[in-house]
Amino acid sequence: MEGYKHRGPVNCDVDFDPSNLKGKTAIVTGGANGIGEAYVRALVAAEVTVCIGDLDAAKGKILEAELPGIKFIECDITKWDDQVRLFREAVSFSPTGKIAYVVANAGIIRQDDVFSYSVKNQEPSKPDLSTIDVNIKGTLYTVKLSLHYFVKQNGQEPSSIQEDTCLVLIGSGAAFLDCLRIPQYSATKWAMRGIMHSLRRTSFYYGGRVNVISPWYVKTNILSEEDFAHVTDVGVQFAEAEDAGQCLLRILSDTSINGHSFFIAARKWASRGYMDLDLDDYPGNTLLLEVQEDQVKSAPVSMGLFV
Ligand SMILES: NC(=O)c1ccc[n+]([C@@H]2O[C@H](COP(=O)([O-])OP(=O)(O)OC[C@H]3O[C@@H](n4cnc5c(N)ncnc54)[C@H](O)[C@@H]3O)[C@@H](O)[C@H]2O)c1
Repeated sequence: MEGYKHRGPVNCDVDFDPSNLKGKTAIVTGGANGIGEAYVRALVAAEVTVCIGDLDAAKGKILEAELPGIKFIECDITKWDDQVRLFREAVSFSPTGKIAYVVANAGIIRQDDVFSYSVKNQEPSKPDLSTIDVNIKGTLYTVKLSLHYFVKQNGQEPSSIQEDTCLVLIGSGAAFLDCLRIPQYSATKWAMRGIMHSLRRTSFYYGGRVNVISPWYVKTNILSEEDFAHVTDVGVQFAEAEDAGQCLLRILSDTSINGHSFFIAARKWASRGYMDLDLDDYPGNTLLLEVQEDQVKSAPVSMGLFV
């Protein structure tokens, strides 16, 4: 594996062969429901061993009983100890003792106290920032543990014997669109792209890759029925959870895909329901390319492991 290089958007309109995933092990946070469940089902179909870390034990146990080669581990991603246990149990459950893929999918959206206006003449109340706790803090715990195991498995000397690993972060339309009245959620989803940008040029040291999947509206439990009914009423087409599952397999099966953001799109925008947005580089912008080069050269040397 070589260092990060922008090679243009990944062609998502092609057939691909996920057979190289067979026998690998993946962790999916928030995999008990919704789009996370679709990632789990796609991975299981590709004969990947999957560990789900989720709060929803009832649904997790149902999936564990239904699907072959999966383990449910009750886990609140905002709790460091829970995630340490998730990764430890996943390593024990893995037939190879290794974790190849991590999908940091667990996420929430709430009515945003940062946006809502306190009634006139009242003092503003301290906003509830639990969306940040789950979507950023919880995900950063997942990132930290992923890197720990990837480095432990592969070392930090790039070589042909390192086994491919991939971290997949879950963004949203809110990671690149103007989404109204949800500054906190938008901040958390832009953050997924920030994490990816921060890691994609060093991940090759441990044979790793990092990518983002950003879903458009998909009917799940994340919003209320009323919210989803409104999407339908205004004539907006949904994306499909199964297409997100295929997008994940497309990313994992091609070891050259690193540092990209994929959009799980309504089928009217993408024939297979997913596309590479090619948002994360500035080809042709000579100023930004030069600034980026200077940024890489001048990155603080005291910041750790990779030089
Ligand atoms: N559905 C959409 O329209 C949509 C659009 C864009 C992005 N997304 C993103 O996709 C991801 C999955 O969303 P979804 O629509 O499937 O939601 P969902 O609510 O259907 O499922 C989320 C899962 O995460 C779990 N979870 C929540 N908080 C957790 C925590 N603290 N620890 C462990 N597990 C936790 C829930 O129990 C649930 O199983 C989220 O990151 C979300 O932001 C969804």
